[in-house]
Amino acid sequence: MEEHINKLGLRSNMNKSIEMEKLKEKIILAKIPLHENARNVVMGKGNPNACILFVGEAPGSNEDLQGIPFVGAAGKNLDKLLNSVGLSLEEIYVTNILKYRPPENRGPNSEEMKAHTPFLVEQIKILQPKVVCSLGNYSTKFFLANGDVDSMIKQSGITSLHGMVKLIEFQGLMIRLIPLFHPAAIIYNRRLISEWEKDMTVVKEELNKINLIS
Ligand code: URA
Repeated sequence: MEEHINKLGLRSNMNKSIEMEKLKEKIILAKIPLHENARNVVMGKGNPNACILFVGEAPGSNEDLQGIPFVGAAGKNLDKLLNSVGLSLEEIYVTNILKYRPPENRGPNSEEMKAHTPFLVEQIKILQPKVVCSLGNYSTKFFLANGDVDSMIKQSGITSLHGMVKLIEFQGLMIRLIPLFHPAAIIYNRRLISEWEKDMTVVKEELNKINLIS
């Protein structure tokens, strides 16, 4: 029985990884805005079979160099916060709204989001997460707007929503959305650490509930 579950798990994991590689090729071929100056497309890291997905904003310089999200200062914060509730990369998957780095780490503009997010939606359909933690305002508004970039402006921001669980229908998938402060915000505002830690206990509780019912 144990072996059977493991084999199935392994097989579906491999499928998701293969699908992710195919998607990466598709993104490279699409030559979307920001590809010109990028050193790498930044797809994601972690376990594609995890039931929880963290979605940040856009790669920075370190991420661009390594082709991996959240490997710089913000990534160190994310690692610490995940560790504080006993979560590791084995149990989560991490990606971004934009797949290439914007110059000088500015926020994504609407043209870039419209070009990049159809690939994020494809990624989410491969991953099929039950819980999505949106990191910061761009990501939170994107999910609340059901992926419609033009409607993002009408959505509430992270300050009023962080740490709350919201059941949403996103592109046909039922998702528990938990908005969290962006880990980079903590670099500039240390007071947010205790908020983030509290919010992470909400994430952990939600995961425990899912594990109990599935
Ligand atoms: N900030 C993000 O939003 N994503 C990264 O990958 C790195 C920093």
